[in-house]
Amino acid sequence: MRKFVSFGLCGVLIVGFILLTQAQMSDKAQLGRELFHDPTFKGTIKPGNRSGFATGLSCANCHADFDDTANPDGLIRAGHSVVGVPHRGEAKGGMIKGADFARAAGGGGFCYEHFLQRVPGDKVNPTAIPAEHAEALMAYFEVISGDNKGPEFEIAMLDDDAKKAAGEKIAAMSGDPSNGWGLFGRACIVCHPAANKSGIGPQLVRSRAPRDIDKTMVRWATKIRGGGSLMPFYAPDILSNQDIADILAFLRQEIESTKK
Ligand code: HEC
Ligand code: HEC
Repeated sequence: MRKFVSFGLCGVLIVGFILLTQAQMSDKAQLGRELFHDPTFKGTIKPGNRSGFATGLSCANCHADFDDTANPDGLIRAGHSVVGVPHRGEAKGGMIKGADFARAAGGGGFCYEHFLQRVPGDKVNPTAIPAEHAEALMAYFEVISGDNKGPEFEIAMLDDDAKKAAGEKIAAMSGDPSNGWGLFGRACIVCHPAANKSGIGPQLVRSRAPRDIDKTMVRWATKIRGGGSLMPFYAPDILSNQDIADILAFLRQEIESTKK
């Protein structure tokens, strides 16, 4: 009996110890964790529908805060995991570096203005995020990263011609609509709740079909690879050309079947 009691006691102590060590996230990192999931940034972003106001998106909508290459949850996010951000030292293909890197939350300051507040890309100041919030996000990224350098990727900034060329190439490929539906569900539903419903993004499939579907497919492929005003771009390591061709085949099928 006594043995059991001391075993029990030991167990309680061990569990307590594990809980204590896990609870060691600093207040700053804990704030960063909450900001990462909060489209209002703790109420500091105002509600509304214009530039400088909340879009309803949070960082977590487009970035995993865990290693989603090693342990995928099945969702496809436009941005890469933020695991490893503190190890990168520069962001936006070298456009954000030096002291600006930490001040811009490792590049997240760009997303903070552009995707959370609809500030047009050419007007964004990546270091305009409040210093206290940038520090909190970086503290959180450090906790979740440890030594993990995160995914390796290169971001090629495409100009308009390169986006169009990529769109034309993809639209000429044939795709698998049922695979495309699965990809659409995992990647796009966060902003396009269904092909025939609008959300943060517009309704894609309407009762009246576009006049020239082939031309629309080129425009859409260009948008998915190149991004839009608020629509994020999808890099080739996140959605391959074939993936996008499959999504387009699905959307084409939906257009054909709703066409009057
Ligand atoms: C609508 C989607 C979207 C939202 C919301 C978003 N991001 Fe991003 N973010 C991207 C994309 C796309 C990139 C560029 C590609 C990449 O780095 O994965 C990017 C880039 C980044 C990078 C830099 C990666 C690099 O080296 O270029 C960081 C860090 C980052 N985001 C953090 C954040 C934080 C923090 C938030 C919340 C304030 C946020 N993002 C919100 C889509 C988004
Ligand atoms: C973070 C939100 C978001 C995500 C995620 C997103 N979109 Fe969008 N999408 C938008 C917004 C907003 C627009 C309209 C304006 C713009 O940004 O260009 C748009 C526009 C589009 C358009 C152009 C519609 C037209 O007729 O002009 C297409 C096509 C599209 N999205 C497809 C997709 C697909 C496919 C995915 C998934 C791979 C996706 N979107 C993911 C927000 C999003």
